[in-house]
Amino acid sequence: MADCILIKDGLLVDTEWVRHEDILIEGNKIKRIAPSIDPESVPYDTTIISAEGKCVLPGLIDAHTHYHLVSRGTVTADSFKEGSRLASFGGVTTVIDFADDDKKSLSSSLSRRLGEMKEMEIDYALHQGVYKYRDTLREELQEMKNRGVGTIKIFTTYKDVGYLVEKKEELEKIFSICKDLGLMVAVHAEDDETIRKAGEEYRGDYKSSSHPVLRPSEAEAKAIRYVGEIAKKLSMPVYIVHLSSKKGLEEVRHLRAEGVKVTVETTPHYLFLNDSLLEREDAPLYIMTPPLRKEEDNIALQEALVNGEIEIVATDHCSFTKEQKLSESDVRKIYPGIPGTEEMLPLLHTFAISNGHLSLSQIVNLLSTKPAKAFGLYPKKGVLKEGSDADVVIFDPDESWVLSPESIHSAAGYTCYDGWTVTGKVHMTILRGRIIMGDGIYLGIPREGMFIGAKR
Ligand code: URP
Ligand code: ZN
Ligand code: ZN
Repeated sequence: MADCILIKDGLLVDTEWVRHEDILIEGNKIKRIAPSIDPESVPYDTTIISAEGKCVLPGLIDAHTHYHLVSRGTVTADSFKEGSRLASFGGVTTVIDFADDDKKSLSSSLSRRLGEMKEMEIDYALHQGVYKYRDTLREELQEMKNRGVGTIKIFTTYKDVGYLVEKKEELEKIFSICKDLGLMVAVHAEDDETIRKAGEEYRGDYKSSSHPVLRPSEAEAKAIRYVGEIAKKLSMPVYIVHLSSKKGLEEVRHLRAEGVKVTVETTPHYLFLNDSLLEREDAPLYIMTPPLRKEEDNIALQEALVNGEIEIVATDHCSFTKEQKLSESDVRKIYPGIPGTEEMLPLLHTFAISNGHLSLSQIVNLLSTKPAKAFGLYPKKGVLKEGSDADVVIFDPDESWVLSPESIHSAAGYTCYDGWTVTGKVHMTILRGRIIMGDGIYLGIPREGMFIGAKR
């Protein structure tokens, strides 16, 4: 008989419903959800957990991470073990990370990343970067799809590091193949030419505060228009990663009004942090791409989150240690990226309480159900449902605590939200029927994470 867990007396919060019910987990699946499951009726060695006074959520999905990213001659602070561990403290049971494109063969790029990610201790899916059109791309993408990757990521910037697909005809060909194969195209949207011009015209120093001037929000809006036009011409959807600005959001609105299906992701840092941090002495700690914007951008994105225009929140977790970040003061050379997976749920929950117009069900939708649906992981992931993977989070919605390097688990050694009091804490995280974090103790097992293939 498979191991069983019975979670009793919690408030179950799914995207579709909220109910006081019990959950019986058998093996790695949710076996039963019912108003009251009698402990006498379950196998004698069932682990019984009381969730009284707590909420029970489906495991969260961070749909945008870069764990163990080797780039710019260094490697990020959180590798697969550290990433899995910190994720479990944040109630995240699945991450979607990225495979690079070596521009020769997606097959070998994907194999390499899948091989590395075997170290994961929570579940993972992958998006595949595509940085170049080539004649073999259709076959490469078909194979990639057969192997369980349902999304490609393209860049409209980073010409200097070779990520930019420069010719529009080639980008159109990539989009068109994705349409034929039913693949999602995700876009890092910043127009390279606008950034190049901003750099040419710029006369100041290169302190962190110059970052938003060097990578203006006009660049985001322009790139969204550019890829949106392609999607419109080909009658296909497009996904915008880490939307950072009001101008970008306005462009999304225009495209939607023209009938383009644009799915939008933003991150906690574009919702809650802004350029005032770039004046600080430790400003390099807050450098990521796109840059932090203004408070009015925070407010516009927050409103869009509440009214449903932004459908997914993910973190773009790409952590460097304080030492790595502070080793450069020229913003063009500071390693871009910040930690974020662990802070995602408490930040969103705290915002929901203060805003008053976002329910915990909506948070579950933004952080679990929507990403599962958008990336072909649903209903295996993203829902509390009999037959789904038993990825379950027990969350205390009332506990207040302070984010600090001591209270969170990233190897970066800092959090961008240091000193923030948040409301809501994860008490237990269950991955496919196994407790991987309980009462502050991590119980993940090396290489127990599973690759979850996208089904479209
Ligand atoms: O600064 C960031 N966001 N680093 C991660 C790579 C990316 O562009 O998403
Ligand atoms: Zn990006
Ligand atoms: Zn990213």
